[in-house]
Amino acid sequence: MPKPKVFVTRLIRDKGLDLVKDFCEADIWPEELPPSREVLLEKVRGVEGIVCLLTDKIDAVVLDAAGGQLKVISNHAVGFDNVVVADATVRGIPVGNTPGILTDATADFTFTLLMAAARRLTEAERYLRAGQWVTWGPSTLLGMDMVGKTLGLVGFGRIGRAVAKRARGFEMRVIYFDPQAAPVPELKATPVESLDVLLRESDFVSLHTPLTAETRYMVNADFLSKMKPNAVLVNTSRGGVVDQEALYDALKAKRIFAAALDVTDPEPLPLDCPLLRLENCLIAPHIASASTYSRDMMAYLSAQNLIAGLKGERLPHCVNPEVYER
Ligand code: GLV
Repeated sequence: MPKPKVFVTRLIRDKGLDLVKDFCEADIWPEELPPSREVLLEKVRGVEGIVCLLTDKIDAVVLDAAGGQLKVISNHAVGFDNVVVADATVRGIPVGNTPGILTDATADFTFTLLMAAARRLTEAERYLRAGQWVTWGPSTLLGMDMVGKTLGLVGFGRIGRAVAKRARGFEMRVIYFDPQAAPVPELKATPVESLDVLLRESDFVSLHTPLTAETRYMVNADFLSKMKPNAVLVNTSRGGVVDQEALYDALKAKRIFAAALDVTDPEPLPLDCPLLRLENCLIAPHIASASTYSRDMMAYLSAQNLIAGLKGERLPHCVNPEVYER
């Protein structure tokens, strides 16, 4: 039996890639940069499965370029805003993602960002490297405390809940806004009835919502104006959730204390982006899930989703299960 042909858009970790190579005739894009749109359209022609990354836009054009034999899209990420899922669903193609295994790494990194922004860590390191550290100063680089402060979570899914768990160790009060979330009493996090209440009460606001038409630019001038003047914004969700011009204005005018972003729009962020000139804005290159375990497991789960789809079995993690209801 010939092995099914698949296209893998980047060198994912061996824990997944080895499985893909065993089961499939895999064309694996070896470059550091993603394939261009043109190359992607060429490479998917005739394949039965695609393993894609959040850097690859998968829409009707790609699905049609692949052809009617395409059985599965396996996204190597938990977020799947890079895939136009409706285009796959109408074609009966299941789309897989990689939830769960990056929850702890992402929640850890949310806290890394939150504390680094609160305590001005990157600014302090720049100060040291610039030779400005001339003595210990009683008022040098003062930041924010954590104990007793309120952390407001926008979104209380897996990652939001894991952040809430960590916040308890720092003796913070945790509130969240997520109309869809079921309460988790042991986390002692309090739901609030609106985003306005969350913004009014929070010293730290952390975003844990997917990027959708509703959440795009949710953090705009109005949102930022409702935050406390000493509040910190943390974003480990998707860059498109934040209107970066509005954020720049708020940070520049010190209407909030700081922002810490793991995600931006676009990615990579151009080096002339004004946010990079602000001392109170910390930006990381989308690395919240970049722990060895998480990236190994993301590769493994994307291989499992791919192989299940090729076999005609239900994907272990499917974002459009309605394809199985036809
Ligand atoms: C990373 O951002 C992911 O969605 O997995």
